[in-house]
Amino acid sequence: MLRSPLLLAAFLTTTANAQTLIEAISKIPTLSNFTAFYQANEPFANALFANSSNYPITVLCPNDDAFAAFQAQFGIPLTDAPPETLLELVQYHTLVSNLSADNFTDDGGKGVTTPTLLTNEMFNNRSVGTEMASRFGGAARASGQVVFIKSEKTGGSARRFLLSRQSNGVSQASVRSGLQSNVNLTTLDDAEGLWDGGRFHIIDGLLTPPTMCSTTIRNAKLTGLDTALNRTKLWDALDGGKNLTCLGPNDKAFSDAGSPDQKLNETTLTGALLFHTLPEVAYSDYLVDGQEFKSLQNGTVRVRIEGEGTERAIWFNNARVVDANVLTHNGLMHVLDAVMVPLEEMNATATPSASSTPTATGTETGTGTGSATSAASSTGAAVATTLGSGSWSWTLWAILGTLVVMLEGAGGGWLLMA
Ligand SMILES: *[C@@H]1O[C@H](CO)[C@@H](O)[C@H](O)[C@H]1NC(C)=O
Ligand SMILES: *[C@@H]1O[C@H](CO)[C@@H](O)[C@H](O)[C@H]1NC(C)=O
Ligand SMILES: *[C@@H]1O[C@H](CO)[C@@H](O)[C@H](O)[C@H]1NC(C)=O
Ligand SMILES: *[C@@H]1O[C@H](CO)[C@@H](O)[C@H](O)[C@H]1NC(C)=O
Ligand SMILES: *[C@@H]1O[C@H](CO)[C@@H](O)[C@H](O)[C@H]1NC(C)=O
Ligand SMILES: *[C@@H]1O[C@H](CO)[C@@H](O)[C@H](O)[C@H]1NC(C)=O
Ligand SMILES: *[C@@H]1O[C@H](CO)[C@@H](O)[C@H](O)[C@H]1NC(C)=O
Ligand SMILES: *[C@@H]1O[C@H](CO)[C@@H](O)[C@H](O)[C@H]1NC(C)=O
Ligand SMILES: *[C@@H]1O[C@H](CO)[C@@H](O)[C@H](O)[C@H]1NC(C)=O
Ligand SMILES: *[C@@H]1O[C@H](CO)[C@@H](O)[C@H](O)[C@H]1NC(C)=O
Ligand SMILES: *[C@@H]1O[C@H](CO)[C@@H](O)[C@H](O)[C@H]1NC(C)=O
Repeated sequence: MLRSPLLLAAFLTTTANAQTLIEAISKIPTLSNFTAFYQANEPFANALFANSSNYPITVLCPNDDAFAAFQAQFGIPLTDAPPETLLELVQYHTLVSNLSADNFTDDGGKGVTTPTLLTNEMFNNRSVGTEMASRFGGAARASGQVVFIKSEKTGGSARRFLLSRQSNGVSQASVRSGLQSNVNLTTLDDAEGLWDGGRFHIIDGLLTPPTMCSTTIRNAKLTGLDTALNRTKLWDALDGGKNLTCLGPNDKAFSDAGSPDQKLNETTLTGALLFHTLPEVAYSDYLVDGQEFKSLQNGTVRVRIEGEGTERAIWFNNARVVDANVLTHNGLMHVLDAVMVPLEEMNATATPSASSTPTATGTETGTGTGSATSAASSTGAAVATTLGSGSWSWTLWAILGTLVVMLEGAGGGWLLMA
């Protein structure tokens, strides 16, 4: 399409004219279901998308595959769901910024944690930090739950910051939402993706609003961590607290460390878990090399960052992050390949896993805390392919639970069976 620059210029000129979101999306064939969804819910959709006090926004529009997957899983078309049950879901698909493909690629491959319009405390019991607030239009506007967007095509060192452009002008990235769900993002260029309120891009699955730590940890099948938390009295604090970053060792980390989840007594285990919990929200893109946190147990946790782009690797003390930015309603979790040892013991203690001994080269930021660099994630290469296939169903079940109750109350007679 649009091979000639003249044609492209003409197209750009035409689309530069004002157009609403519904006008813009109805031109994209793969968004036919989302277009129908918008039309079926016009008052509700207009309140969000035709409301200039929300602008600029970027709408992540689920394509027809996403709608089909929803229908296959839940037995009803999303288009038929009553709007009041969909508010949070639609808010979560709306980013509070005007974001083009460049915004997802000029970050050095760290990724961009981006706030949405979803502010309900059930899904967002966290507050925005000063750096994210200043980047996204102030604390009030940037206070919603986040998604984490990361370019997929950052390639090797030579083309580290280049996102390869396909012939039709689209670019690929991934969007992480709650319960480790990842969907693919196809960015649209100015010719297709601009509308009065900002931009829109296409995703191939619905986003999952983040939920409780307990649900998230069990969904991630982190059995050692689940065992440890079950043996202590920390679940209420972890689920009911605010602004928490959980540094969660994976099962191999627990067994490498001699199964402390089973062997430590409750007091010692509680201290160890509090050492793995930070009282603030630390998304990977905001972490800088040398940064230190004081854990809830009061021990110091130090960040180490090596490499850039897809090579960027993050450690907390001796433990490497193997899955970054597992979003929860009150913060996030980074999954670790080792149980952390106190900083003072790092040199004295044998490192529990091979990957925990980085080479001392190529830190990209130098030391320092709180620099205003933007995004970052280093979903460790080992687990970068962990697509949360189907995992979003947990939260959708929660949302749909409300829907079922309403429908049954209204005598609607729908039965949602898994
Ligand atoms: C998506 O749109 C197609 C074409 O209009 C329609 O046949 C199909 O039922 C829709 N699917 C859903 C899940 O809405
Ligand atoms: C527009 O959005 C603002 C805040 O985002 C909200 O307070 C207001 O009620 C909305 N207006 C309409 C007409 O829905
Ligand atoms: C997105 O990119 C534009 C153009 O480079 C820039 O002005 C804007 O600040 C970026 N937005 C964010 C949230 O970083
Ligand atoms: C949010 O956090 C506060 C503590 O700051 C807690 O009292 C409240 O119950 C939490 N809400 C949810 C929905 O988790
Ligand atoms: C959450 O974090 C924000 C920003 O770091 C801070 O201003 C706020 O006081 C914190 N809230 C709680 C309950 O810790
Ligand atoms: C994203 O793209 C990959 C590779 O094309 C594919 O395997 C995966 O199923 C896609 N994810 C979703 C949610 O469609
Ligand atoms: C979004 O950014 C583009 C430039 O990248 C600009 O042309 C457009 O007017 C912006 N839209 C809004 C609503 O700010
Ligand atoms: C932890 O406790 C919950 C609730 O009792 C239970 O469902 C889960 O299986 C337990 N996890 C482990 C690993 O034993
Ligand atoms: C728990 O274990 C620690 C370390 O092994 C020990 O010092 C402490 O006395 C034990 N506490 C109880 C209540 O058994
Ligand atoms: C950490 O230190 C603070 C103040 O110094 C104290 O109130 C708190 O009890 C300590 N926490 C632990 C787990 O030792
Ligand atoms: C470990 O040893 C190195 C080199 O001897 C030193 O620079 C570093 O500060 C030590 N780390 C800790 C936590 O003591």
